[in-house]
Amino acid sequence: MATTVSIKVEEARERIGSFLGAPPSDSIVITKNCTEAINLVAKGLELKRGDVVLTSDVEHNSNHIPWMQVQKAKGIRRRFLSTPSSGEFDIEAYKSLVTKEVKVVSLAQTNNVTGASIPAREVVEIAHDSGAICMLDGAQAAPHRPVDIKKLDVDLYAISLHKMLGPSGVGALYGKNEILKKMDPLVTGGGAVSLTDLDHAEFLPPPERFEGGLLNYAGVIGSKAALDYLGGIGMESVEEQTRLVNNRVTKGLVSIDKVEILAPLDPAKRGSILPFNMVGMSSHDVAMILDEVASALIRSGMHCAHPYFQSRKIDGCARASFYFYNTIDEADRFVKAVEKVASTFSM
Ligand SMILES: Cc1ncc(COP(=O)(O)O)c(C=O)c1O
Repeated sequence: MATTVSIKVEEARERIGSFLGAPPSDSIVITKNCTEAINLVAKGLELKRGDVVLTSDVEHNSNHIPWMQVQKAKGIRRRFLSTPSSGEFDIEAYKSLVTKEVKVVSLAQTNNVTGASIPAREVVEIAHDSGAICMLDGAQAAPHRPVDIKKLDVDLYAISLHKMLGPSGVGALYGKNEILKKMDPLVTGGGAVSLTDLDHAEFLPPPERFEGGLLNYAGVIGSKAALDYLGGIGMESVEEQTRLVNNRVTKGLVSIDKVEILAPLDPAKRGSILPFNMVGMSSHDVAMILDEVASALIRSGMHCAHPYFQSRKIDGCARASFYFYNTIDEADRFVKAVEKVASTFSM
C-alpha cells in the first residue's frame, strides 16, 4: 500500500509538470501552497549583500514579504516596478529597471488585485538577457488559462493546487534543475536526505531535497484528479467561459453610476476577476450585503496586496472572482444584486 501511495504521488508530480508544460527533465517540488514555494526560492537562492531583487508594487504579500526577510537577513536590495494608472504592465519601465545588478526578477504572471497579466515571455527574456533569473508567481494564472513553461522558458514557477479545484494545502514549485541544485532547502529532515551521520547530511537531488517530512499525499493525489478534470475541460475553454462571464458582469456594472471599477476597465485584460468599489461604502459592507441579499460570495479588503492600496490611498476593494462553472444567469443575478445594493445603500 505504501508503494502504491508513492507511485501515485509521483504520478501526481508528473501530472503537475505536464499540465504546466514543464520539461520532464526539470523538477516539480511539492509544497503546501504557493507561498511556501516562493519562500523556498527566496530563502534558498544563493543571494549576497548588494544583489538586487526586482518585484512590483502589485505583488501578493507572498511574493513580497519573503524578499523583505531576505533583505534583512542577507542585505540584498529590492527594486519595485510601479503599476501605471492604466493598471497595465509597463514594459518600458520594466526594461529600465532590469540592470546588471538585478539577480532575480519575481513577478505575478497575473495579479490578484487588478487581474492584469504581464507579457510573461518577454519579461523572462529581458531578465535572461540581463543575466537575471526569473520566477513567476502563477497562483492566479495557472488556474485560468493554458500555461506553457517550456515556451515561457521561465526558471521557477509557483502555483497553488487549491486554486485549481484541488484539495486545500497543496502547492508546487517548478524549477530548472540547474537552479534548484544550487538552492538550500527551506525545510529539512526525513525524506530529503540519502544518508546522514552525526555531523553531516547528504541531500537527495531535487525535488526530494526540498520535501523534508511527510508530504500531504492525500492532497497531492487529489490534486492530480483536479488537474485531470481541468485538463478534460481544456484550459482554453476554462479561459473562454470565465471571460464570457466577466464580460457580462463588467458590462452590467459599468452602467451602474455608483460603481467604480479598478483599472484596467477592459475585462479581457483582467482575467477572471472584477475589482470594484461602491461610492460611500466600505468594500467589507459591500461584500457582506451581497452575501446576505444574493448569496454572492466575493472578497473584500486589500487582498494581501497592502502596498498597492496604501500607495494609492484606497481602503481596498470588493472583488468578484469567476471560474468556468459560473454561468451567464449567475452573472445577471450578480449585476442585479449590485444594482440593488447601489440604489439602497451607496451615497
Ligand atoms: C497572486 C497570488 N500569489 C500568491 C498567493 C498565495 O497563495 P497560497 O495561499 O496558495 O500560498 C495568492 C493567493 O491568493 C495569490 O493570489
